[in-house]
Amino acid sequence: MITITRPALLAELVERLDAAAASAGDGLAAAVWRPGQRTPIHDHIAWCVVGVHRGVEHEIRYRLVDDHLVEDGHTVGAHGSVTVLTPPGDIHAVVNDSDVVAVSLHVYGADLRERRTSVRRCYRMPVR
Ligand SMILES: [Fe+2]
Repeated sequence: MITITRPALLAELVERLDAAAASAGDGLAAAVWRPGQRTPIHDHIAWCVVGVHRGVEHEIRYRLVDDHLVEDGHTVGAHGSVTVLTPPGDIHAVVNDSDVVAVSLHVYGADLRERRTSVRRCYRMPVR
């Protein structure tokens, strides 16, 4: 995973996403995270670039070890930061542990129009 904290880069990404979404729509998504909201632990079917447009997203990464998961790091995605997820091995959960709404823009290396999700698998197993 690569994390870049460059607000100017994110502003350019948002501009390009707006233009691309107007003409294509595939592989693009916006996520709105309410305070306290979190995803299940999951991984993805394709690479993904995430830009935090508003608020802060907290990412918790995991490693699969036999029949359980092990925490493998944290990233705080602040406003203006850009993160790249590259499967395989991109097991994570995303949490908005702030008291304000967070908004992020996602670009996927897959056409999600039919599949409707980028999630490959949810990991419902112990974390040790
Ligand atoms: Fe994810």
